Amino acid sequence: MEEQNIGEIVELLKNSKRVAALTGAGISAESGIPTFRGKGGLWEGYPVDKVASVEGFEEDPELVWKFYDERRVNMKDKKPNRAHEVLAEMEKYFDMWVITQNIDSLHTMAGSKNVIELHGNIWRFKCTVCSYNEMNYETPLHEIPPRCPKCGSLLRPDVVWFGETVNEVEKAFEIAKNSDVFFVIGTSAQVHPAASLPFIAKDYGAKVIEINIESTPVSVIADYILRGKATEVLDSLFLRLQEALQ
Ligand code: OAD
Ligand code: ZN
Repeated sequence: MEEQNIGEIVELLKNSKRVAALTGAGISAESGIPTFRGKGGLWEGYPVDKVASVEGFEEDPELVWKFYDERRVNMKDKKPNRAHEVLAEMEKYFDMWVITQNIDSLHTMAGSKNVIELHGNIWRFKCTVCSYNEMNYETPLHEIPPRCPKCGSLLRPDVVWFGETVNEVEKAFEIAKNSDVFFVIGTSAQVHPAASLPFIAKDYGAKVIEINIESTPVSVIADYILRGKATEVLDSLFLRLQEALQ
């Protein structure tokens, strides 16, 4: 990390009230959860259109449930890392919001209260017919596909599939428009509307700070770019911030 940048970012944060962070799979990579688009990415070996769309689910609910069951088994023992923790601790100092594309619950587990889960949560199921939903942590599932205890219809994971509307989208845009600082952490910024948020934030006057090991479409508009692993970058930034706030 460039020393001058860190100093400037700390100054910026000292004068900020509302801080938001858009996060993606990269923030959970160091917890051992694979990203989507990199090598060893999650879609590898699975037909994306089949396992992440309503049509695919209607065609073959068993295949889709097998895919999610596998992901749940993989995620079961994964813990939040230092990057999740720093964002949670930042709630002590700022009107802090995490807008995540991740479905792994790690921000909440790290203690963040203000979390928008744009793409849902892999630990929540909802009925495809009635209003039933539940938190479900069984891994592996004993019944595939699981059925609604209220009406007997198919349950589905409460995650957002291609073509579906993301959760709390208006609130997310509202936060982007009213942030002083907008972090973009560990996302390839290719999936909309999430990927539009940094651009909106910038248009409305926020300073945009990208934390990623690689460049993305957001790099072009970022006021600061911190190239590196989310855990390392956020840990050293937070250390400097705490010193400055004392
Ligand atoms: P991607 O897999 O597309 O991108 C992960 C990003 O994290 C890349 O830009 C990496 O460079 C970066 N990265 C990897 N390890 C990192 C680390 N240790 N520190 C910092 N950055 C790191 O994941 P997303 O952008 O989250 O949607 O993908 C967005 C959406 O695409 C997902 O939410 C999912 C998928 O379709 C749905 O399932 C609806
Ligand atoms: Zn039902």
